[in-house]
Amino acid sequence: MNMDIVLGLQWGDEGKGKFIDLISEDYDITARFNGGANAGHSIERNGKRITLKSLPSGIFMNGVQNVIGTGTVLDPVSFRKEILNLQQFDGAVQPEKNLIISRKAHLVLPTYRLLDIFMEENPDYTTIGTTRNGIAQAYSNKILRQNLRVGDIESADFKSRVEHILERDYRMLAGGDMIFPSLEEIRNEFFDAIDFLKKFIRTETEIFLNKALSDGKRILAEGSQAAMLDIDHGTYPYVTSSSTTAAGASSGLGISPKKVGEIFGIAKAYCTRVGNGMFPTEIFDELGEEIRNRGNEFGSNTGRPRRIGWLDLPALRYAIMINGVTQVILTKADVLSGIESVAVCTHYELEDGRNEMISGNLPENAIPALKLMKGWEGDISMINDASDLPAELKDFLSFLNQELGVPVTYLSTGPGRDQILKIKELELVK
Ligand code: GDP
Ligand code: IMO
Ligand code: MG
Repeated sequence: MNMDIVLGLQWGDEGKGKFIDLISEDYDITARFNGGANAGHSIERNGKRITLKSLPSGIFMNGVQNVIGTGTVLDPVSFRKEILNLQQFDGAVQPEKNLIISRKAHLVLPTYRLLDIFMEENPDYTTIGTTRNGIAQAYSNKILRQNLRVGDIESADFKSRVEHILERDYRMLAGGDMIFPSLEEIRNEFFDAIDFLKKFIRTETEIFLNKALSDGKRILAEGSQAAMLDIDHGTYPYVTSSSTTAAGASSGLGISPKKVGEIFGIAKAYCTRVGNGMFPTEIFDELGEEIRNRGNEFGSNTGRPRRIGWLDLPALRYAIMINGVTQVILTKADVLSGIESVAVCTHYELEDGRNEMISGNLPENAIPALKLMKGWEGDISMINDASDLPAELKDFLSFLNQELGVPVTYLSTGPGRDQILKIKELELVK
């Protein structure tokens, strides 16, 4: 058996959570491999909506095991809030039974959030526009080999090691003019959350996952963030601190690349980005505002307005290439319904010629070449059969298939679970 992967191809918030919630019923295990509480994966169930942060999106499925893998960073305080919120949302979920946490996942200590804010607001550092969850601080301490991991919570000196780090961080924070809670307060809250974390299964998830594959179980790896936010391949320094790619899934879960099957890449029919950094197809006029409102493009995690841009094919081609995407899932086409002409960036004009694929390093003077396509009309969110889609949208999909070299196999037409069309059957390539 192989592991399939779902990942974002743009700057995050492509609709990964919705798609995973839907297809997770075909899997035995869903597993998060990167990131932490910076993610916000929204899922609609029975007309209600929840945003998952650290939890895998298969958590609602009875019989699906959910893994928080080794490549992730776990904030126990945020985790406790998330679990309590989940149980309020759906009394039937049983995370004590169907959630397994890697003992090697790294912990986010409470001072990391404070240091994240400190760095974001301090002119000595580049302001990234982070989600302020202490993600970079956890990953940097991991790389420095100074961090604590989930497995450490059982060790006799865990408390003293935590206290040491908190006190050290407080000395650094005291150098700024930020107002922050007392050490006593955050320490107590953290240790309470650690007691809560002890109720959950913690194990060597690599062994669990590889054994599951050998036993014929199906695994779905769930990416957080997206290709253009990848620490190596994204628009550095305006990126997150983890590996968001298919290779990150292998490394973060300890599963050989040889065992990877389908790689589902999720992309919106336009682009959004929260936080700072390059966004060459950004729309600054009132049309951008309109798309933001129609698409409810406000961060699921932070509530920040998302920046809006046209679909960027050079960036998408790059994301497809570095991930080896086998199928593209296009979301939010319904949001563009009624817009007279929809633009797509086909390539960039650079001083030395045309560029059809961009990595995170696009020169500032690059000009996006936009192709205008006739927009589609009507409420497509109620369509049940892909052949009933408006002709203009079919043309748009055909064009993408040609340009991307990878088929668009699903079209998401709304936030609800049923609002998705399988479009394999359509003869889209002209
Ligand atoms: P994720 O981080 O990739 O899981 O995406 P988010 O949940 O942060 O953001 C996607 C938002 O779009 C959520 O509010 C979803 O409910 C919503 N959504 C997902 N797919 C569609 C779609 O096809 N159409 C519309 N209108 N909304 C969608
Ligand atoms: P999901 O999984 C969109 C962005 C932040 C910021 C940069 C670094 O919901 O798609 P960080 O807190 O990670 O240090 O912030 O990355 N960012 C996201 N943007 N969706 C996300 O996750 C994101 N996670 C981080 O806005 O620009
Ligand atoms: Mg999100």
